[in-house]
Amino acid sequence: MAPAQVMTATEAPSITTLPLVAGPLVEYRPIHPTFGAEATADFSSITSELVDEIKQGLAKYGVLVFRKTGLDDARHVEMSHLFGDLDDIAPFVSGLGQKNRLTSDYLFDVGNVNPDGTVMQPGTMRDLLLRCNYHFHADSAFNPRRAGISLLLAHELPPAELGGDTEFADTRSAYEHLSEGRKEQIKDWVVMNSQLQCRRNANTDKNGALNPLLDTDEFDPMKHRFGIHRLVQLHEPSGRTNLYIAAHAHHVEGMGIEEGQKELKGLLEYVDQPKYTFRVKWRDPGDLVVWDNTCVLHRSVPGSYAGKYKRDLRRTTVHDMGPQAWGLNEVGATWRNGLD
Ligand SMILES: [Fe+2]
Repeated sequence: MAPAQVMTATEAPSITTLPLVAGPLVEYRPIHPTFGAEATADFSSITSELVDEIKQGLAKYGVLVFRKTGLDDARHVEMSHLFGDLDDIAPFVSGLGQKNRLTSDYLFDVGNVNPDGTVMQPGTMRDLLLRCNYHFHADSAFNPRRAGISLLLAHELPPAELGGDTEFADTRSAYEHLSEGRKEQIKDWVVMNSQLQCRRNANTDKNGALNPLLDTDEFDPMKHRFGIHRLVQLHEPSGRTNLYIAAHAHHVEGMGIEEGQKELKGLLEYVDQPKYTFRVKWRDPGDLVVWDNTCVLHRSVPGSYAGKYKRDLRRTTVHDMGPQAWGLNEVGATWRNGLD
């Protein structure tokens, strides 16, 4: 895994030379030469005008980092509704009997806090499943309707020196830098995505041995449905082309499984270069990172806080509201990968 550039507005000289861009309600300070911005806005008044402007910022930057927003669960959810239709965890609560410790089923509990409030311990099944998040992915690529915008809010953070950052990758620039021949080769590829593929890969050792706990039909991607999406897509909000590749990618339709997996692995490794990535350091409760899954990838960075300190991050997930939201899946399908 290549290290991402660690950049903040105050640390990297190349960033401070970039201009501060101000809209009426949001100010942006670019983080990376091609994407991402530290942004400031007044969240004491959440309006559709503010949300529209954040969306405009996302079209350009792909990732926006807001510090100390002061948002709580209720206002986090309230604002998220203004972005579009929200995904929810209700199917997992009813389908898997999972307990939701949070006040809203629109909040995805993606940190390391167990439903009973204790710190998740390494090696537990929940830990094994969440290890998928250490790999570059786009939220819900494995479901029939993919995610558009994700809003991740910090509630409690481990000591900064113990890790737990979040990294992002710019898949629009990565696509644009491909050779014309490569673009032609991949332009019609259709990718079959499965959360189970990511979970299996995240629990396979360097010798290729899968953790026996996941070596079951329940975790076999081929025994479940796939989220089917085109690899190369127009990113409507910016008019640029995006490489929609994620760690959930299992194989390429119409291509041998092994050959397809080799190609997809190669594309993920290609995107995972310092020139296409940067790292966000969470600083304070209330920090909010908003990103567009249809033009960037993200991953959580492991840290030595694991098993010791809470990293309580809660995410709302806005369904993709664009024309390619359903990919090649049945429009209106309600199944969820892992529950099908
Ligand atoms: Fe994610």
